[in-house]
Amino acid sequence: MSSSAVAVSEFSNPNLEPLFTSEQIQTRVAEMGAEISRDYAGQTPLLIGVLKGAYIFLSDLVRATDLRLGVEFMAISSYGAGMRSSGEVRIVKDLDVPVDGRDILIVEDIVDTGLTLSFLIGSLHQRGAKSVRLAALLDKHERRERDVKIDYCGFRIPDAFVVGYGLDYAERYRNLPYIAVIKDPSLKD
Ligand code: IMP
Ligand code: MG
Repeated sequence: MSSSAVAVSEFSNPNLEPLFTSEQIQTRVAEMGAEISRDYAGQTPLLIGVLKGAYIFLSDLVRATDLRLGVEFMAISSYGAGMRSSGEVRIVKDLDVPVDGRDILIVEDIVDTGLTLSFLIGSLHQRGAKSVRLAALLDKHERRERDVKIDYCGFRIPDAFVVGYGLDYAERYRNLPYIAVIKDPSLKD
């Protein structure tokens, strides 16, 4: 392969160790959607997707959730391009609508240290939300630094860096239809 060529298949890159198949994810998301539908029956929750990582999870979750609901997005930065949280959390894209009196369901890809979510949950309470719950596809519980209650959790995972189904490593791999562990983060291809 010449130095300018890239691997032909991104989906079967040898640096990826599959963790959850597309089928496993779909089954779990359907279960989460059913549970959310039961819990919010008769209510009009506002789902807030945390960009960018949660966009694919959110799009599947809303279609598994038979409710009258709203969808908004926020972007929070805590990571930069690396694999470890910088610890500093800031809002990069804010909501366009007020949340006072609303039942909020935050939709997040993964809870790692919990810094991002504890900041976001606090901020939504401060703005007068009636209730704030959290749906997270993945829970990397071993790395928690802040106590965060995950009301709807897809899967608990070990302390490894995962990509796919919306999650990235330096903006790469969001388009994988499954979730995988990066075997060697120093490898660029
Ligand atoms: P926390 O503030 O440490 O909980 O970090 C949460 C954010 O870091 C998530 O929303 C992800 O965007 C990112 N993140 C944490 N772990 C991973 C991972 O294993 N793969 C991809 N992104 C991750
Ligand atoms: Mg995220």
